[in-house]
Amino acid sequence: MNIIVVGGGGREHTICWKLAQSSLVDKIIVVPGNGGTADENKCVNVNPKDCDYIAEGENPCVAIAKHENCRMAVIGPEDPLCEGIADEFWKADIPCVGAKKAGAMLEGSKDVAKAFMKKYNVACAASETFVNKDAAIEYVKKHGAPIVIKADGLAAGKGVVVAATVEEALAAIEDIMESGRVGDAGKKLVIEDYLEGVEISVLAAVSVTPEYAVQGSATIVPFLPARDHKRLNDGAKGPNTGGMGAVCPLSDVTPEIMEQFKKDCLEPTLNGLIKERFDYRGFIFFGVMLTKNGPKLLEYNVRLGDPETQAVLPLMDFDMAAMCTAILNGTLKDFEFKWKPGFQCAPVVVSGGYPGSYKKGCEITYDAAELAESTAKVFIAGAVKDGDKLLTSGGRVLACSAYGSTFDEAWKLAYRGINAVHFEGAFHRNDIGLPGAAESGKL
Ligand code: AMP
Ligand code: GLY
Repeated sequence: MNIIVVGGGGREHTICWKLAQSSLVDKIIVVPGNGGTADENKCVNVNPKDCDYIAEGENPCVAIAKHENCRMAVIGPEDPLCEGIADEFWKADIPCVGAKKAGAMLEGSKDVAKAFMKKYNVACAASETFVNKDAAIEYVKKHGAPIVIKADGLAAGKGVVVAATVEEALAAIEDIMESGRVGDAGKKLVIEDYLEGVEISVLAAVSVTPEYAVQGSATIVPFLPARDHKRLNDGAKGPNTGGMGAVCPLSDVTPEIMEQFKKDCLEPTLNGLIKERFDYRGFIFFGVMLTKNGPKLLEYNVRLGDPETQAVLPLMDFDMAAMCTAILNGTLKDFEFKWKPGFQCAPVVVSGGYPGSYKKGCEITYDAAELAESTAKVFIAGAVKDGDKLLTSGGRVLACSAYGSTFDEAWKLAYRGINAVHFEGAFHRNDIGLPGAAESGKL
């Protein structure tokens, strides 16, 4: 079977690498892909700009999938999902792993997500939604700090302010609603109670349709718990980033905590997806705060996490293409999930200056023997091929993901891999997965 994968980041490189291991997969068309997928087994990057067969008004990805005879689509990022790309694929009779637009609004609108959580009793922080700035200001003044201000719409990770003081919260309201920095995403605000704790990411496979609900086969299956590290510097210091590294699984997440998460967050979510009669066949990512009162849901993402994917997928001891088929045809409940018993550590290497401005076009070189010795797999995020060269093209450039039977072993191998990768200005954290590295959620 040929598969189309939509996206071009580290998550998509990892998805392609894992799908390529399946005997069910002949060819993977990646739109647009990156410098990593360009060289990955079975993968071909396709840029819609180079495809003269795409008719006007046609969805470019659907057109490419038809042209390349793809029988499955896997969508990486949230933007196309929120725009309804899954609906387009299904209309063209191409099964699509990714939520349809209605379900994707669980990420596309914080207000929709919170209304859903409240309606179906998903454990989460109390919140209120505002379209009126003065009402929002009044609410914050009455409530006091700490408090969390969230732009309603997609804001590429820049729409949430955890405010330690009322002044900070008021400045955030002004910034989100008035500055236009996050555009239309900031026309509505969700203001939420602050939750203290440590965060985890639970990525999961979802197979819900009204038909599967009637058959009793609708399900959400969580993957092993993972953790991102958002701050730029060691010890969870410095500015927020798109993620400086991830680890999986987590020794501080006991089976009891996972059971509680399932009962308080996952099962009510499944119930809600069923009751809303969504056709949701794809992935969901629960952003969870482990508080002293149990796990509370911070957010849904309707996709896999980045860089969590780079740490979670290598631990899958099963065929990911077969899992995707099970998601699509309603047999996910019976699918045998088997996980490697050890740990995966995936620190990220970023361009010097990131998350501020940074140089692009720096050549990436590897010490090949040392990289091979490390056993780490390099997943490319922000780099492109230029002939035989690999050049940086983004802030987050790559992750080195390594497996170990213990966390220490995984950590050592991942950093051995990191030290075998070179480009001008390369920067990474040294403490991914170590004690004190996770944001503690204490103000
Ligand atoms: P979100 O996009 O809603 O997950 O928010 C982005 C980040 O803001 C989360 O990963 C948390 O670190 C933080 N955050 C969001 N909501 C809260 C909350 N209610 N209490 C504390 N921190 C939060
Ligand atoms: N790692 C967080 C995210 O993918 O949103």
